[in-house]
Amino acid sequence: MGGNAEMGGRPMRIRGYRAEDREVLKALTVEGFEGVSIDHNIERAFGVIHGRDWRWRKARQIDEDIEADPGGVFVAEDDRGEVVGYITTRADQESGIGWIPNLVVEAGWRGQGLGRALIEHALDHFRRLGLTHAKIETLEQNPIGNHLYPACGFREVARQVHFVREL
Ligand SMILES: CC(C)(COP(=O)(O)OP(=O)(O)OC[C@H]1O[C@@H](n2cnc3c(N)ncnc32)[C@H](O)[C@@H]1OP(=O)(O)O)[C@@H](O)C(=O)NCCC(=O)NCCS
Repeated sequence: MGGNAEMGGRPMRIRGYRAEDREVLKALTVEGFEGVSIDHNIERAFGVIHGRDWRWRKARQIDEDIEADPGGVFVAEDDRGEVVGYITTRADQESGIGWIPNLVVEAGWRGQGLGRALIEHALDHFRRLGLTHAKIETLEQNPIGNHLYPACGFREVARQVHFVREL
């Protein structure tokens, strides 16, 4: 499954995940989520925990997403085959609801519609699977997510507050 397109005049395509993408996706993740992740907030408040920094915890989520459904991970690459973004998904057939746990576009490619294109790709994937709804979350401190998701048709349904304490 793939689709060719242009973003800001630059050719790119969205394709399915391959095993060799894993480390690149994890690197994009730790770059992209700096300042916009719960794990980074925790580290700002408490420092490094258990010898693992926020990057380790955040990158581990990508392993979990790949483990849960490698066929639901989609990768954007430029015309040289460089990975410039990705989106991960979970399809809950029983509930009819698809979930987008993680989405990143490399900094140099942002603001040209690639994030939206990845979301649309994931939504089409959900539709093909017969799902009827999709969910995604963002932090209050993430202005791009707060702008982009409503612009992609998502409606706000809840706000959640996260707490952490020392033991
Ligand atoms: C979120 C992310 C994937 C979006 O990718 P992208 O390719 O820039 O997305 P798009 O270009 O399709 O859309 C971005 C939209 O946000 C808007 N935007 C950019 N900076 C903004 C800001 N500071 N405040 C509000 N809106 C902003 C853009 O104008 C664009 O909206 P428009 O199409 O109405 O003009 C990308 O910014 C990213 O990887 N961020 C770091 C990781 C992250 O936050 N992931 C999502 C976690 S919930």
